[in-house]
Amino acid sequence: MTAIHETATAAGSGSHATERFKSDKLAGVAGTPKERVSLLAREVLEAVHGTIRRHKVTYAEYNALKSWLISVGETGEWPLFLDVWVEHVVEDVATEHREGNKGTIEGPYYVPDAPEQGARGSVPMRADEPGTPLTWTGQVTSTGGTVLAGAKVELWHADADGFYSQFAPGIPEWNLRAAFTADADGKFEIRTVRPAPYQIPTDGACGNLISAAGWHPWRPAHLHVKVSAPGHELLTAQLYFPGDDHNDDDIASAVKPELMLSPRRAADGETIEYGFVLDPERS
Ligand code: DHB
Ligand code: FE
Repeated sequence: MTAIHETATAAGSGSHATERFKSDKLAGVAGTPKERVSLLAREVLEAVHGTIRRHKVTYAEYNALKSWLISVGETGEWPLFLDVWVEHVVEDVATEHREGNKGTIEGPYYVPDAPEQGARGSVPMRADEPGTPLTWTGQVTSTGGTVLAGAKVELWHADADGFYSQFAPGIPEWNLRAAFTADADGKFEIRTVRPAPYQIPTDGACGNLISAAGWHPWRPAHLHVKVSAPGHELLTAQLYFPGDDHNDDDIASAVKPELMLSPRRAADGETIEYGFVLDPERS
């Protein structure tokens, strides 16, 4: 790990993730009907009450919870907490009707409007970017088999130390973040480097929960993508590498067998082939 990364903190990545959420996602949350808010809030509270009664939760435990919830806010870790322990179920429900590609959680580190690189190119990276070079080829089609020329593939991922640009300090703004546009045959070719497994920040509220519960903080190495084409549902997914220690016990429960890559060794690093099948929008 380089010296510059030693200053990466939970409060740093947490507050960036909180600001990102506020600027990108808040527009979509207004207008939930009163009846629905009442139903969902009541059921969640009833589940909490049930746990308290079943396990005879004490005042000491109640106050530990209060103090922990306060610290989640203070370290800006609500996006991290929710995306690790809750989002995977929301994603399952939102995409259960799909016939095309499986998706998975977005996580807290997506940034829109990454630099556009055409159909073939490299993601922006440092001159001495560490990590095994990856050349990834693929094609975007519709569930009916139609080739989706002009489909957009947005890619973002951690570096070979497990850090994301714009959320850990000292990394160029768009490092390992880019958008590609599929050619007339729906094809693209991306050059990047293999990311490292990602560790949930251990010095904040999420880290405290993990250590207090005796869990581990790891997500397996993954490439994040958003794939979009006019008239089709947006696909948000992550791709994983076989053999990772945490493919079977991802802290964020976001691994699916359909999202596993099959890298092949090449003269310069590794090659992967993975394409996407998008579902037409439902009318
Ligand atoms: C979190 C981080 C990720 O990189 C990811 O893919 C999912 C969740 C998190 O820290 O919450
Ligand atoms: Fe991630």
